[in-house]
Amino acid sequence: MKFLPLADLQPGMKIARSIIGRKKSFMLAKGNILTPEFIEHLRVGGYSGAYISDAFTEDVEAEPAISDETFQDGIEAIAEANIGEIVTVSSTMVDEICSRENVFPDMFDLRTFDDYTYHHSVSVAIYAVTVGKAMGLSQEDLNLLGLAGLCHDLGKEKIPKEVLNKPGKLTDEEFNVIKAHPKAGYDLLYDKSEIPAVVRQAVICHHENENGTGYPNGLSGDKIPLFAKIIHVVDVYDALTSRRVYKEPNTPVDALDYLMGGCDTLFDKDVVAAALDVLPSYPPGIEVWLSNGESGIVISHTTNSLRPRIKLYESNRIVDLDNDKEYFTVNIVKSGYLTQTAEKVEQLNENRTGRSDRRKKILYVSDRMIESRQMRNTLEEEFDFDLVNSGSAAIEYIRSKPRPDLLIIDLDIGGGISGLAILRTLRRDGYGPEDLTVMFVGSAKDKETIIKCQALKAVDYILKPINPMYVRTRVEIVLNKNFLFA
Ligand SMILES: [Fe+2]
Ligand SMILES: [Fe+2]
Repeated sequence: MKFLPLADLQPGMKIARSIIGRKKSFMLAKGNILTPEFIEHLRVGGYSGAYISDAFTEDVEAEPAISDETFQDGIEAIAEANIGEIVTVSSTMVDEICSRENVFPDMFDLRTFDDYTYHHSVSVAIYAVTVGKAMGLSQEDLNLLGLAGLCHDLGKEKIPKEVLNKPGKLTDEEFNVIKAHPKAGYDLLYDKSEIPAVVRQAVICHHENENGTGYPNGLSGDKIPLFAKIIHVVDVYDALTSRRVYKEPNTPVDALDYLMGGCDTLFDKDVVAAALDVLPSYPPGIEVWLSNGESGIVISHTTNSLRPRIKLYESNRIVDLDNDKEYFTVNIVKSGYLTQTAEKVEQLNENRTGRSDRRKKILYVSDRMIESRQMRNTLEEEFDFDLVNSGSAAIEYIRSKPRPDLLIIDLDIGGGISGLAILRTLRRDGYGPEDLTVMFVGSAKDKETIIKCQALKAVDYILKPINPMYVRTRVEIVLNKNFLFA
């Protein structure tokens, strides 16, 4: 099977993966043959495309984690906020996941933007249970975790669709509306006797960060319940690998990379370790490029998640990166989604209008040469990047030159003025958080450092070593103000 964007779908093609939506709405089951009417339905529904069967990709083995029926029941139960039904779906789902070995994310979302939250909730529940299982949770706990996954974004019902699906920058007010959803979900579940307190707790805490910078309560470390920590991690994985109004999907490798980058600041590292074990880096159907110049499509898994079985384009051969001797020294250098058509690019550009096209400017303050170079490599393609190597130079720069859109300060800067003192001086000078957006980078993990950063109204604290995917994503979130992880 392979994914084809809408523009490339033709009558007569065979559907390889069911398109599931609300019960009353249109559904296209696996095995159906596309007709002009079906294609029109997909277009009107806002789907980005469909999985079809073709000869080259017929070897791709990707059983969905749960049956189509359970998936659809889940979507319906969540859309209707039918708690009794959600409880039923949760236990069916856990049974199905526990009886299957591997769980694969869909390469492309077969979701309309309107149904995004329902699909997302079912996916998050599937991933959460998968990760929980890898962490050795009991069946009883997995049931509760699955339930919490399904319910985690129920509070979004209260958020207007225009805000939830807004392609451009969000205003502070809109941010606050979105940030209210964990508490709204908690309240909605409060008087439901079928929902145990641990599930409600997981729902209200699913956007709390390890270092206390999350919402709604700014809890940190041990104060955050385990179920919430698990949902937090897989929630972000699903958001990154999904196609949204304002972005194309990130590859699973990039998403896992991001999770690693956020260890100890955003995410619990034991949960991330389990996620790395069970969420695939190269799911079947994804395209890969190898270090020997060959390319192909992933067919199935081996015991090593980084070395799958691949069907090569040129030779039509299937190779097992983990076991074929001649491929022992060959690595995957890049992976990506099949088929980027002109139409899609155009559509995304349209979605982006309303965003400013001016390149944003970033000033980085650090006296560490190697890290500065890494930072420059990470950011200069997308942003104008300036570097100064001392606190006094940074202060001078801000006072005398056009202000950068973002100031990133290395907390480990040696001699002269400390990283924190740089920002303290600037804030005292009158550069408030509205005038000067600041992020810190550093190697200190202690709570006190985080509190000091927060007191100075820094928007983020990034832990070293510098992880390019993580840094790029954090900077984008801050500068574009898209709320990717709600
Ligand atoms: Fe979510
Ligand atoms: Fe959420």
